[in-house]
Amino acid sequence: MKHSISAPGKVILFGEHAVVYGRPAIAAPLSQIRACAEVRLTDRPLTVLTEDIDRPPLRWPGARPDSNDPLERMTAIASQFFCAAPIKGEIAIRSNIPIARGLGSGAAVSAVLARAIAALLARELSPDDANALVYEVEKLHHGTPSGIDNTVVVYNKPIYFVKDRRMDFIRIARPMSLVLADTGVSALTRETVAAVRKLYHEQHARTQAAFDAIGAIAERAGRSIEIGDWAGLGELMTENHKLLQALAVSSPQLDRLVAAALDAGALGAKLSGGGRGGVIIALVDGDTSQPVQRGLLAAGAKNVYATAFGLT
Ligand code: PMV
Repeated sequence: MKHSISAPGKVILFGEHAVVYGRPAIAAPLSQIRACAEVRLTDRPLTVLTEDIDRPPLRWPGARPDSNDPLERMTAIASQFFCAAPIKGEIAIRSNIPIARGLGSGAAVSAVLARAIAALLARELSPDDANALVYEVEKLHHGTPSGIDNTVVVYNKPIYFVKDRRMDFIRIARPMSLVLADTGVSALTRETVAAVRKLYHEQHARTQAAFDAIGAIAERAGRSIEIGDWAGLGELMTENHKLLQALAVSSPQLDRLVAAALDAGALGAKLSGGGRGGVIIALVDGDTSQPVQRGLLAAGAKNVYATAFGLT
């Protein structure tokens, strides 16, 4: 048996950080960057091989549910979920999603591992159950994850998301073009989420007000996406970035890239994900994509990617 499984990267369009505190956020899958798994039935205990991820192969049994290693934790909780002992076979995971850049690498790798284990066991894994398993592992990356990353990666559709309350698929009115630019700086979401939590305790009223403003922006952005108002959406993006600056999760590199995108004609730009590193996103129309990409590279971006949503 040979079985191919994959999950996309993701980008948060609006609402990161405030989403942890119950405000709405919007995210979309990035189909160009993906994690993939191939499974092979063997009569030996499970081995998980990772080609592009710098870590040794995982051998099971021995995987512990309380392990701090994401692959080990997923293997252990998936085997518990399926009441499976022993698991036999081989899973080879590959991913071209840059790590620790807010692009959903951790959630995508967890999602393909959960599905690969289901395939080896010839068991069904519903999207809701896959989402719940990946969420458990996300706690390692995020501490207190809102659940937005696992949800967008598992369902592979643009979503409007409110933690524990709401998940709607968003219809994108007409093609929407983005440029992503990578600072080349790795940042741990767990640390930026902890920094925002500290601010929330130390400067409660100011932080709540920023969360409320970000939530209101995400709500308006949801409407703009559904009617295809890209000029309005761009302004909302740039406003969202300013509020993330106020939460101290931006960085000089991120600010420089946002400014460069706007100077080159982007309709709006913001950091995306946990911040203090990782990527910015810039909303562009067809004509400005190239100048924005050049402007971002000239401003020090280590990599730029052009992507579009709503093409179906
Ligand atoms: O995984 P990242 O870096 O895209 O960040 C996730 C977004 C946060 O709102 C910062 C955290 C969360 O759990 O929603």
